[in-house]
Amino acid sequence: MMRSRIVVLISGGGTNLQAIIDASKQDNYSGDVVAVVSNKADVYGLTRAQDAAIATSVLSHKDFETREAYDSALINEINSHQPDLVVLAGFMRILTPKFVQTYQGRLINIHPSLLPKYQGLHTHQRAIDAGDTEHGVSVHFVTEELDGGPVILQAKVPVFPEDNADDLAQRVHQQEHRIYPMVVNWCCTQRVTMVEDNALFDGVILPISGYASED
Ligand code: GAR
Repeated sequence: MMRSRIVVLISGGGTNLQAIIDASKQDNYSGDVVAVVSNKADVYGLTRAQDAAIATSVLSHKDFETREAYDSALINEINSHQPDLVVLAGFMRILTPKFVQTYQGRLINIHPSLLPKYQGLHTHQRAIDAGDTEHGVSVHFVTEELDGGPVILQAKVPVFPEDNADDLAQRVHQQEHRIYPMVVNWCCTQRVTMVEDNALFDGVILPISGYASED
């Protein structure tokens, strides 16, 4: 099978990017990260990509007057790398409908909560404030609804009474690094696909919380 071309978008430290790069070097992996695009200069994720000899570019949203103009430029940059899959890994931008439609079914995101709980920001603190005893992370296809696309896989972690948001973020991050490279590979091999706003695994529609959900 042809190896898939993966473009990763970041805004920060890029630990998930690193996990995907590391996984892609293994024999049984079916994709390569061919480019990393950041909306911020001077983020460590860019260094990680450069260290792995991956093409990088910075496209600052501050250089564009509208969200539409920025996303058009982003589409041009991404398309120059002919991606099969576009992976959001801590890319902290709200995307325009045009962007989402351009990569429909080939665009995935990782979000640090058990979606549909806690869409948006500050998810760890919100889980603590709500008194939740479990929290986690979701990998999902991106649709026009913010953090609302069909979930492919989640991982849960316990919330301990003494946890602060950083403790919890660290625990969730470990799970992110475990599940994101795996789901990326499932997309590369087309084991996971999106059809009409559903995520499918081996052709079967996944439940609302993704694979192995108990719901
Ligand atoms: C991750 O925790 C990811 O779940 C989150 O940003 C972090 C990026 O970390 N994404 C979102 O909050 C998206 N709404 P990283 O740069 O170390 O991979």
